[in-house]
Amino acid sequence: MFDAILAAPPDSILGLTEAWKQDPNPLKVNLGVGVYKDAAGNTPILASVKAAEAAILHSATTKSYMPISGAPEYGSCVRELIFGSAHEIIQAGRARTAHTPGGTAALRAGADFLKKVVPAATVWMSAPTWANHKGVFAAAGFASKDYPYYDAANRDLDFPRMQEALEAIPAGDIVLLHACCHNPSGVDLDAEQWRTVAAIAGRRGWLPFLDFAYQGYGDGLEQDRAGVLALAAACPEFIVASSFSKNFGLYQDRTGALTLVAGSAAAADRAFSHVELAIRVNYSNPPAHGGLIVSRILSDAALRDQWLAELTAMREHIAATRRQFVAALASHEVPGDFSFIARQKGMFSFSGLGDVQVKFLRDARSIYIVGGGRINVAGITSHNLDYLCTSIREALASY
Ligand code: LMR
Repeated sequence: MFDAILAAPPDSILGLTEAWKQDPNPLKVNLGVGVYKDAAGNTPILASVKAAEAAILHSATTKSYMPISGAPEYGSCVRELIFGSAHEIIQAGRARTAHTPGGTAALRAGADFLKKVVPAATVWMSAPTWANHKGVFAAAGFASKDYPYYDAANRDLDFPRMQEALEAIPAGDIVLLHACCHNPSGVDLDAEQWRTVAAIAGRRGWLPFLDFAYQGYGDGLEQDRAGVLALAAACPEFIVASSFSKNFGLYQDRTGALTLVAGSAAAADRAFSHVELAIRVNYSNPPAHGGLIVSRILSDAALRDQWLAELTAMREHIAATRRQFVAALASHEVPGDFSFIARQKGMFSFSGLGDVQVKFLRDARSIYIVGGGRINVAGITSHNLDYLCTSIREALASY
């Protein structure tokens, strides 16, 4: 049965790390997967996470199953993080949250739920989008289409064309939006543009599905809510997939959440019962550890402050690295204006490198970049900056 099966292609993001690990070149650089690295190139466990883990280890009494949607306290913490504690959605009980194994499982649980509710809907995704978005929604049985987003010529948002496309999406379809730190482009909507998008969603009646994987990596925990809050003001129903891989550094603990917002508490409960069915047949109930860490940090004032300071430091480090990268490209006389890299938000930069240059950098220089030219800015350190800029100059000169 298995003999004739041809191997699947490696994952376009995670596969790069595997290839990088095998590469014997001592100068090799991994700018692929979105993982935060400090100035020394390490991905340390946050001190607030370590402290929360110690407290959990000390006080834990059972390894019994979690509820299908995880611990209720976790859901409350997540909703406060997404909306802010005083938000009407929370007060009215119009949102329900499932603790999911990472943001990917949140997307999949949401997709499985929607396939049951609106099976004929099309899912609209930004062009470009995270490589795995298409795979997750396709696996749930959805056809997807693109809406314009990134303007490669101007290295900016193509808002007029995006707006025009969103206006034409029919009621009942689903529109996937990146709440902040757009992956892969690093180009976000401003607050006014979010209000425009939210007004279109409210008027047209398509369902916003927000991927919120980088809260706190853009302008700050509260500022990064701009899109969510605009949609909350204009649309009675939407879905949010959260990931705590990056902002809590819980990559391997697979910690995320799916939050469903409905027009009333009763409608939210009814709809959410189908989310729970989708989860039960998929992974049954979530792994507890990461959720316990997040809940403990968010419900303890001192730990929360410590975590916020650590999150701020990560955000500021990436912003500083962006500026250093732009300056280094200029000082290495790499042709072109790269100032846009300093304007982009979050972990990634759309470098402007094409696939031939990405291939040259990988094959000839052991520098690993995602196809399309997405660079994980956090992977740039003072140790690899010179080598990177010299290699980019060579890549641009050769191709
Ligand atoms: C990324 O885009 O690099 C991250 O979201 C990690 C992943 O799972 O692809």
